[in-house]
Amino acid sequence: NGFLAGMFSSAPASGTEKREPLRIAVLYASQSGTAEGLARKLTKELKSKGHAAALTSLEAYTPKALAAEKYAVLIASTYGEGEAPDAAQPFYEELCIERFPALQELNYAVFGLGDRHYEHFCKFSIDLDGKLAALGAVRLCERVECDLDIDEPFAQWKEKLLGIFNAMAKVESAPAAEIAAPVTAATETQAETVAAHGRENPFSAPVIEKRVLTRESSSKVTLHMTLSIRDSGLRYEAGDACGVIPQNDPKLVEEILQRLKLTGQEMVEAPGMSVCTVADALLHRLVITRLSRKLIERYATAGGCTTLLGMLAPEQQAKLEQYIYERGLIDLLVECPGVVRTASELTAMLPKLTPRLYSISSSPLAHSGEVHTTVAVVRYSTLGRERGGVCSTLLADRLPVGEQLPIYIQPNRKFRLPADASAPVIMIGPGTGIAPFRAFLHERRALGARGRNWLFFGERSAASDFLYREELEAMAADGHLTRLDTAFSRDQEQKVYVQDRMLEQGPMLWSWLEDGASVYVCGDASRMAKDVDRTLHAIVAQHGGMEQDAAREYVNRLKDEHRYHRDVY
Ligand code: 2AM
Repeated sequence: NGFLAGMFSSAPASGTEKREPLRIAVLYASQSGTAEGLARKLTKELKSKGHAAALTSLEAYTPKALAAEKYAVLIASTYGEGEAPDAAQPFYEELCIERFPALQELNYAVFGLGDRHYEHFCKFSIDLDGKLAALGAVRLCERVECDLDIDEPFAQWKEKLLGIFNAMAKVESAPAAEIAAPVTAATETQAETVAAHGRENPFSAPVIEKRVLTRESSSKVTLHMTLSIRDSGLRYEAGDACGVIPQNDPKLVEEILQRLKLTGQEMVEAPGMSVCTVADALLHRLVITRLSRKLIERYATAGGCTTLLGMLAPEQQAKLEQYIYERGLIDLLVECPGVVRTASELTAMLPKLTPRLYSISSSPLAHSGEVHTTVAVVRYSTLGRERGGVCSTLLADRLPVGEQLPIYIQPNRKFRLPADASAPVIMIGPGTGIAPFRAFLHERRALGARGRNWLFFGERSAASDFLYREELEAMAADGHLTRLDTAFSRDQEQKVYVQDRMLEQGPMLWSWLEDGASVYVCGDASRMAKDVDRTLHAIVAQHGGMEQDAAREYVNRLKDEHRYHRDVY
């Protein structure tokens, strides 16, 4: 760009020259935090030069917001096979489907980070740069890419950019050019609050509703939970999941501390963890419920526990599994005492507590400002002790309405409704696998999508486990759900599963496929999803009149055409 190159080579501004501060969006797409670190550094420097720079993650940003900017700097990492980092994918996808080139106002620069070991080195920053240019934005300076050696190329790129902004600021302050957007403190603060709620920086979402979906007579407890995400900047699409940062049961923490004669205030430092009290580590950061082979091995080795060590032999596998199933950390401390003497010895042995993912059961269009989840509560009792899943018992027992839960959005880009609103969809979701399909159904209704919807739902008993029964039956009654097929496995002598219902409806299922239907499966991966997959192949073979190989090819083609999606766990 000749005009800008000319600007850059002009003499640097003297201290007396009038310069209008520029409002600059500093955007980053980070996978491991490097791009974010550079973006922070740049923001600070731009501010020190008197510009109004606002730092934002692409995770919390939209192409629409970008279209409203005049200056933007993008620092982008490339991930995997040349893709955008997870957090930046929604932004990039939206940028790519945007139909009108609406970025003529924008002046931008891109800095790319990558790994030369990969075939598609820095591909995301290259794509992003190309896309912005294609949409009419003006490139302020050439894109710079770097590998492991970041400092030098970044410093050079930054100096060049600062020179350009300096020159631009002079132009903006010229009387004829009264085009600069007024820079106010408010715009900057706004941009900063919208920035990035992610896994490392979750949003504390107030619980606004909790409802048990199963009846008392059920052998299970499944909860519906509504969280508020108003003013959080969090955005999601039907099909996405909600990441929950769990917390252990304080009673169990207390019991462990007592058993080890610790006060809880002892300071500890486990790998990958900042220094904190042992009470904090046990409550928020480490797994203290389930045992694992590794933990038993560490514990038994440290204490020279021969019985435990014996169980680690390959031929004792079944015994070890039984031991792990029946016990938790507390049982280990009780049954083999004296092994752990300090708080640090304990925390060094325990694995890190990781976030739990729940499929979101709401639609952002139909349930604005809310995230709904459908949670199966895991409880069981062994050796005279009540036990349960860390996160599901937290949600069920230790989190009343009105309290806050730290969450983030985990996009699930492969699990999306068809772009064509008139395409039919077939959804197979037994148990809590219903969650994303409730979201899909509400989304399609809110969109006014006219495509046919078919749901297969399965549970143990119709009387006690028919999740969202009223809602689903109402949708079936008014025709939004074209078909609702249920399989209640324990309501008759012989088990009936969703795949049995699919088989019964084979001819119709085949005709929906031939009409271009997309198939979605959500729920248990170990058995259900495999059986459903086998059944789908069988239906295609039988009603499409194909040999096995041809049926397999047909199903593979569905996958290639993004018409067969599975979200199984
Ligand atoms: P079951 O527990 O009575 O065997 C949700 O958990 C529903 O999925 C239950 O009705 C459960 O039945 C059923 N289910 C269990 N195994 C299944 C499988 N292999 N395929 C489909 N559904 C299954």
